[in-house]
Amino acid sequence: MGDGREILAQVRGLVKHFPISRGTIIKRVVGQIRAVDGVSFDLYRGETLGLVGETGSGKTTVGRTMLRLYEATEGEVIFDGVDLMSLKGKELDRMRRRISMIFQDPFASLNPRMTIGSIVGEPLLVHEVGNKKERQARVRQLLEQVGLNPNFINRYPHEFSGGQQQRIGIARALALDPELVICDEPISSLDVSIQAQIVNLLERLQDELGLTYLFIAHDLSMVRHISDRIAVMYLGKIVELADRDSIYSNPLHPYTQALMSAVPVPDPDLQEARVRIILEGDIPSPASPPEGCNFHTRCPVVRLDHCPLAEPELRELQPGHWVACHYAEDFQ
Ligand SMILES: Nc1ncnc2c1ncn2[C@@H]1O[C@H](COP(=O)(O)OP(=O)(O)O)[C@@H](O)[C@H]1O
Ligand SMILES: [Mg+2]
Repeated sequence: MGDGREILAQVRGLVKHFPISRGTIIKRVVGQIRAVDGVSFDLYRGETLGLVGETGSGKTTVGRTMLRLYEATEGEVIFDGVDLMSLKGKELDRMRRRISMIFQDPFASLNPRMTIGSIVGEPLLVHEVGNKKERQARVRQLLEQVGLNPNFINRYPHEFSGGQQQRIGIARALALDPELVICDEPISSLDVSIQAQIVNLLERLQDELGLTYLFIAHDLSMVRHISDRIAVMYLGKIVELADRDSIYSNPLHPYTQALMSAVPVPDPDLQEARVRIILEGDIPSPASPPEGCNFHTRCPVVRLDHCPLAEPELRELQPGHWVACHYAEDFQ
């Protein structure tokens, strides 16, 4: 709490490897997919931390591991002072109520055979909150809160548009009054015209309910508006983390600089003057990430005498501005 902000959650050295197995009858593990490979960050109560990176960089795995939908290979998630990774049974259930998740594809995450009333009310039923009447009243209140007509309680997910389906997902995520909501690309699958409505809804709910968001997206333009701070991921690691404005005005990691050069700016003269940095090659496989700095194979300013040999630490180069590049000082 050094600067007066209250820390809600601390992720420390989080690692999640998925085994790769071969063989039909006798399965043997032949390798590991290093989906998340040593991720650390803090979440301040009431903030929105944007988590950005290309598809496959490990963003969803960070979210799911924090919620213990996946067991971590290594690392800690300290939530309100308690290490979630060490909890079992009832204690884990109690802590789980305080964190929830909104998913990328709203339709796929809603059971098509359940009414939206039972979908939104399911967490209440599972955690045995209130009686039937109280639960129904709560469901109606939640639907209203996300801008849906509570009289639609007996309808099915397919009767709703994509944006409305995401509102149903949000209502369900709020059912148990969480403090932290992990929003996993909640607008990526929606029409551009609908995206702003969902972002506005999430912002309003954050104000009303004092929520903290981890907001996952695959491009920087989607998190600009909503985030207080932004963390950029590449191949299972955070390469840069800073206040939103510092990330946009002064990106210090060559990967962030490349991502940033792809974000259109509203001023046509500025846009004209900008150099688009195109990264060579595809993102390497997380089953065999490059040695040393794992970005060195695509880095436009790589120094081959050093970068492939030593892994850069995430360093605080300016107050609150963290970067994992050996040569970040050169870009200040
Ligand atoms: N359940 C799983 N089993 C095996 N590999 C997985 C699993 N989930 C994700 N992965 C792999 O881990 C890497 C990171 O995936 P993911 O966290 O979904 O990335 P992102 O959300 O950034 O697109 C990818 O290579 C993906 O294929
Ligand atoms: Mg994902």
